[in-house]
Amino acid sequence: MWRHLNRGGALLGSALAWNNGVQKTPAMGFNTWNRYACNINETLVRETANQMKNMGFLAAGYNYINIDDCWNTKTRDSSGRLVVDATKFPSGMKNLTDFLHGLGFKAGIYEDQGLTTCAGFAGSLNHELTDARTFVEWGFDYVKIDNCDSGSFQGTNAQRFKRWTDALTQVQAETGKMLFYSLVEWQSFDAWDWAPHIANSWRIYDDIQANWFRITQILNNASFIGDYSNFYAHNDLDMLENGNGALTLAEQRSHFTAWALAKSPLLIGTDISKLSQDSVDILTNPEIIAINQDTVIGEPLKPFFWGKNPDGTWDPSFPAQYWSGYWKDHKHTAVMYINFNERTVDLNFTFSHSPHLRAHKKYAVRDLWKHEDKGVFGNFFFDGSIPSHDVRAYIFTEQP
Ligand code: GAL
Repeated sequence: MWRHLNRGGALLGSALAWNNGVQKTPAMGFNTWNRYACNINETLVRETANQMKNMGFLAAGYNYINIDDCWNTKTRDSSGRLVVDATKFPSGMKNLTDFLHGLGFKAGIYEDQGLTTCAGFAGSLNHELTDARTFVEWGFDYVKIDNCDSGSFQGTNAQRFKRWTDALTQVQAETGKMLFYSLVEWQSFDAWDWAPHIANSWRIYDDIQANWFRITQILNNASFIGDYSNFYAHNDLDMLENGNGALTLAEQRSHFTAWALAKSPLLIGTDISKLSQDSVDILTNPEIIAINQDTVIGEPLKPFFWGKNPDGTWDPSFPAQYWSGYWKDHKHTAVMYINFNERTVDLNFTFSHSPHLRAHKKYAVRDLWKHEDKGVFGNFFFDGSIPSHDVRAYIFTEQP
């Protein structure tokens, strides 16, 4: 099954992706939902943006500030336009996007391709063109389109979400402005089959939660559909939970590394001001971000060796452990290992297992979390004492 998926996806992910010119590499930034849900307002958004800038997140590449559900009212105005909740956003959206742009950020907004949003506010089904015009007029750069309350639509999910692609294309013809299009489809979970043609990113699984099992469930799913993701069109593993729940530092490191190297969007969803320095250091690791934001190689890392399970095993609590992919060119290979065991283990693999390593070449290996060179290796690689739920990430550089 997974081999079949991988083959088909190579075509979908690269050759036919919707290149709307907006964002070649995965989007990075902040989203309100995971931490604040409906408790949002313009002060929170402004303060978060200031913190993102002052704490170095903007400089590290996190340049979208995205407002999720609960910003609008339940009804439209007399001309059919969406209405901002004036108690939460009294200065209005144009004011807010001007502020965000002034700091150097881009701005994102949320809607839903159904009658109401998931929290019960006015949805966009059958109003796509009006809403796309409104969002451009308000100065937004990014739109996330959700999936609730869509049962009345006669047609496929692809047709339903393509109405937004068409609206954005039309508004681009009118104004010159194209938005990043992030879509959320969680009924059939087959968006990777059709969304690369119509959107910049698509969710691949149920909502993330700040616990290890949900992270392994999402990663297991992602491990089979890497070929669908490439420049301008990415699998979305959902927003980051770093800083939330009871994720240990090892788990935060694994979560972040896996999302980054699967080339998922990286949208932080926590109270930035409460992040520990360790968590900040994880989220801003430049050597990991450089792989996520590679402008030469669009393909994500993919599993080459499942480790404990036989290769190709579907296991939501124990996904594939060894992943690889090229970085920058075909002389650099990124390798990731995650320890899903409940105990400390060693890792090792032979080069011939990975399609991204040449079995008879020697490689200089750099550890991207310890930020140190480990030496030159041939034939196989070994590293010792990987703590439970922790990760290792390396760049292998082919030697002449
Ligand atoms: C869910 C979506 C979440 C969040 C929420 C808002 O459907 O997956 O990411 O946007 O709706 O109500």
